Amino acid sequence: MKIELIDTKNFTAKENLTVKLVTPEQLKNAKFKKTLKKSGFSAEQDTVCGMHGKSLLFCGIENYDAQNLKTAAVTIAKAIKTVAYKSLSIEVDAKSIRPIIEGFILGGYEFNTYKSKTKTSKLKKLYLICEDVTPLTKAFEEAVVISEATCFTRDIVNTAPDDMHPETLAKLAKKLAKDNKLECNILNKKALKKERCEAMLAVGRASRHESKLIHLAYKPQNAKKRIALVGKGLTYDSGGLSLKPATSMVTMKMDKAGACAVLGIIKAVSELQLDIEVHAFVGAVENMIGGDAYKPDDVLRSRKGDTIEVRNTDAEGRLVLADVLDYAQEKVKNPDYLFDFATLTGACMVALGQYTTGVMGHSNRLRHDLSKASRKAGELTATLPFNNHLKKQLKSEIADICNISNKPYGGAITAGLFLDNFIKEENKEKWLHFDIAGTAYTESPWDVNVHGATGAGVRFMTQFLQSLK
Ligand code: BES
Ligand code: ZN
Ligand code: ZN
Repeated sequence: MKIELIDTKNFTAKENLTVKLVTPEQLKNAKFKKTLKKSGFSAEQDTVCGMHGKSLLFCGIENYDAQNLKTAAVTIAKAIKTVAYKSLSIEVDAKSIRPIIEGFILGGYEFNTYKSKTKTSKLKKLYLICEDVTPLTKAFEEAVVISEATCFTRDIVNTAPDDMHPETLAKLAKKLAKDNKLECNILNKKALKKERCEAMLAVGRASRHESKLIHLAYKPQNAKKRIALVGKGLTYDSGGLSLKPATSMVTMKMDKAGACAVLGIIKAVSELQLDIEVHAFVGAVENMIGGDAYKPDDVLRSRKGDTIEVRNTDAEGRLVLADVLDYAQEKVKNPDYLFDFATLTGACMVALGQYTTGVMGHSNRLRHDLSKASRKAGELTATLPFNNHLKKQLKSEIADICNISNKPYGGAITAGLFLDNFIKEENKEKWLHFDIAGTAYTESPWDVNVHGATGAGVRFMTQFLQSLK
């Protein structure tokens, strides 16, 4: 469905369904209040009522807050999937344009790659109608770019693990680079060996797909800031020899969501032509079992030089990130910000629930700015605080650090502290770690999310980057 912003006076579409939002208060004086009430419509938030003789669709809304506008748009996007109209129109203004676009695109999202039969909707256009398009054009274009980048991220995450493995993910990144004029460098196994990425290589050793480190860069002239993004790209996490239980393994194709978010963000930034240099690094690896698999008891030497005692091969994401973070910090000298995105721990979901991304780092200021951006973007984030007692739980008797904590509590934070070990002193205050284990994927719809990948991180990070001066 194509979305178009159009002046009221130029709007002439035929076979069009007009959508009207109504609050319970507005319903009292509405033109069709009797008919609407007869059909049981009371303008309750997220309820719809069609009046097809008049080509009208009413949707209830509590008030015109951004969040309510967004979920109303999601409700409409779902309700209109089977209608026979050619187009849909809805009135927008400066405040409602973004939530309505996000609700429509993200709430109407479908992933049909593996469906043999899909219904093709007759609806081809969504018209956003306003008094004057000029002052709304920028907000319109931005909202479309960000929503489409979120869907781009969702599509990659949703792709089955035998179709989206490290080699195909690298290919996709190359195509994105070509389409969006980004620099692209991909390290294969040989190059990774040369770079001493032994921790990362160990995780992928039992896979029939070669591990890849992907580096994309968007470098506009006169960039005001330089940002490094790092994503966990476990295209499948079986747990390795510390094998996951059967039911926990299902959905582990989503363990690449951090990588996919980082690709979605650089796509959005380059299409918005932001005045900042952005580097995206992805550790694309598959964690499998086999005679060649890395094992609990192995000691790995990380790229940084620290040795890591492996006590659980299912804590693999941090091993990959240890090397990719180290590589990123060498390639991007003196960054203004360093962010990593990872579906890192089940413990993060235990701590915060499935709707909130866990944020960890040392800078209160940065956490505050990020929290502001995420609130504006409509994604939930919350800080999980570091402390030195938890840090001690990563001590190893054998090596420099252990890949899991020796106590069962605080697992999201100890994972964050493991990553902290690989952040250079000069970057400590510039770094944030985002644990998106709970937020990246869902098997039941919530907010603008439908079954499957959510694209978590794309909206709040793009918002943060847009806010940089
Ligand atoms: N990819 C998982 C984390 C995860 C769990 C993401 C559930 C999304 C949903 C990660 O690699 C993992 O397995 N972590 C372990 C760590 C443990 C072994 C210390 C976990 O959370 O159980
Ligand atoms: Zn794991
Ligand atoms: Zn994992």
